[in-house]
Amino acid sequence: MNIGFLGCGNIAQAMIVGLLDSGLKPSSITVLTRNQKKKKFYEKNSIKRLAVSKANLAKFDFIFLCVKPKDVKDAIEGSGINWENTPLVSVVAGISSQKLQKFANSERVIRIMPTTSAEFGKSITAIYMAERQKKQIIKLIPLLNKIGSTIELSSEKDLHEFTAVVGSGQAFIMEALKQYDDKLLKFSKNRNAASKNLAMFISSIAQHIELNNGIEASIKKIMSPKGTTYSGLKALKKNKISSVFKSAFKAAEKRSKEIQNEY
Ligand SMILES: NC(=O)c1ccc[n+]([C@@H]2O[C@H](COP(=O)([O-])OP(=O)(O)OC[C@H]3O[C@@H](n4cnc5c(N)ncnc54)[C@H](OP(=O)(O)O)[C@@H]3O)[C@@H](O)[C@H]2O)c1
Repeated sequence: MNIGFLGCGNIAQAMIVGLLDSGLKPSSITVLTRNQKKKKFYEKNSIKRLAVSKANLAKFDFIFLCVKPKDVKDAIEGSGINWENTPLVSVVAGISSQKLQKFANSERVIRIMPTTSAEFGKSITAIYMAERQKKQIIKLIPLLNKIGSTIELSSEKDLHEFTAVVGSGQAFIMEALKQYDDKLLKFSKNRNAASKNLAMFISSIAQHIELNNGIEASIKKIMSPKGTTYSGLKALKKNKISSVFKSAFKAAEKRSKEIQNEY
């Protein structure tokens, strides 16, 4: 398998590290960059580098498009790649398949939405492609499952909501976790110990959910009738915790739709 990454920033690097850690051979990966800014990264990971302008010299099973929305048109059109021979897998938020197809002058376009948790094999990656492109996923899904799990979306519109809830959503939880960070700092020896305690606290939540097969069952295990947890949860519900998150999801979804109209 030969995979190209057009752009080698945050998300491309996270995916590459995750793929290599999962056992993919470094010789299977080529980064297509327009300069040598990321030299340290591709040298450290023993992966190949090809100038974007020479990208048409190699043959790829997929090329992951990993540039910012404003750079999509230049990156696709300026690469000289014959996109009719190479499936384009875009990780870019807010640029529709229709626009990607227009820039690439090819129908072979797939959209995915991974997270930087790909770096440690924990990306929940959404995939959307038109019905006639479905045969491409036979190779793509096993590849993406190496960096976490995959969810196939039946409507492209759902990518906006998915990006808001899963893509941006980790940061929303982190923002809420700042409340715990402050308290744990008070109880811990120093900042380093507080960070370790916070990490243990959060991973224990994930384990609870996995072991008990869901959130409600996990809460039930922690909560006793009329106890401290019961009182705290009642206060959270009274203060409409669900509305706080819903408003963040809506705002992020709205922004994703705006980006679509900007480019
Ligand atoms: N970061 C995330 O958590 C995340 C998650 C999911 C999806 N995404 C999507 O991934 C995309 C990239 O995000 P990022 O955070 O990885 O951005 P980033 O760190 O800024 O990386 C973007 C890369 O694109 C390269 N680039 C720009 N124009 C190019 C061109 N014409 N030809 C070749 N390479 C070009 C840049 O190279 P130079 O060094 O030459 O400037 C840079 O390495 C965004 O569209 C975003 O929606 C990001």
